[in-house]
Amino acid sequence: MNIENKTVLITGANRGIGRALVEEALKRGAKRVYAGTRSPFQHSDKRVNPLTLDVTNAEHIQRAVSEIGTLDILINNAGIAMYDDLSKPDVIEQHLAVNMFGSLNVTRAFLPLLKRSKGAVVNNLSTSALAPLPIIPAYSISKAATLSMTLSLRALLAGQRVTVHAILTGPVDTDMTRSVDFPKASPESVAQRRSQGARTPVRSFRTGECCEGCVTSSRTINEKKSKRKERLVIK
Ligand SMILES: NC(=O)c1ccc[n+]([C@@H]2O[C@H](COP(=O)([O-])OP(=O)(O)OC[C@H]3O[C@@H](n4cnc5c(N)ncnc54)[C@H](OP(=O)(O)O)[C@@H]3O)[C@@H](O)[C@H]2O)c1
Repeated sequence: MNIENKTVLITGANRGIGRALVEEALKRGAKRVYAGTRSPFQHSDKRVNPLTLDVTNAEHIQRAVSEIGTLDILINNAGIAMYDDLSKPDVIEQHLAVNMFGSLNVTRAFLPLLKRSKGAVVNNLSTSALAPLPIIPAYSISKAATLSMTLSLRALLAGQRVTVHAILTGPVDTDMTRSVDFPKASPESVAQRRSQGARTPVRSFRTGECCEGCVTSSRTINEKKSKRKERLVIK
């Protein structure tokens, strides 16, 4: 995706992958980066415009639209993940409210600007949209729903020259995964690869070339499998 001279809005821009995406967009020559955050945010680069944006808050969304005159790329990155076992409906609702409805409502609000610029929407999803993780089923449900929403929007907007992309990210080393011990990609490497091009989700998932996190995880799993096979042979 060409970011040079483009105006980009990134939600959840203050930390983790969102923060890395801000830096990557600047590195790639973005003209302006709107950093959507829930708490005050500052950046030394004058191209960065902080924007108060809780994606579940309709007033914030409307104010953001009126503050941004033109937009080429919207990156729906804001997200939450909580451990659960599907026993509490309100936990599922919270995930859907931020991860799915947040992305959808922000996208819908910015559509007039995106149609004008023939722009792009990029939704930061997760491989758990396709392969749910039992420790975070509510999160997985919300990412699966957002993948479906993304594909529907892609079809609905195809004739209006707005492209809609899903990026299926594997495990990344951020606050979200801090307490889980498995191989993770750095947020910077994910931001870099994502900016190079949003791949089609199904192909990325099937080929296991989604991102560094996926590659590292699948390599570790394969190594463990082959060690197990070796042990079986020795017996
Ligand atoms: N880390 C991973 O392994 C991984 C893997 C696949 C996909 N992802 C996806 O990548 C995205 C970023 O995750 P991350 O790992 O960078 O997580 P993170 O470090 O926990 O950051 C989450 C970001 O989302 C923001 N956020 C949460 N609720 C929000 C709301 N209602 N409105 C606006 N912003 C909100 C947070 O803002 P505050 O600072 O105000 O809380 C923070 O900036 C998420 O969509 C996540 O699902 C992550």
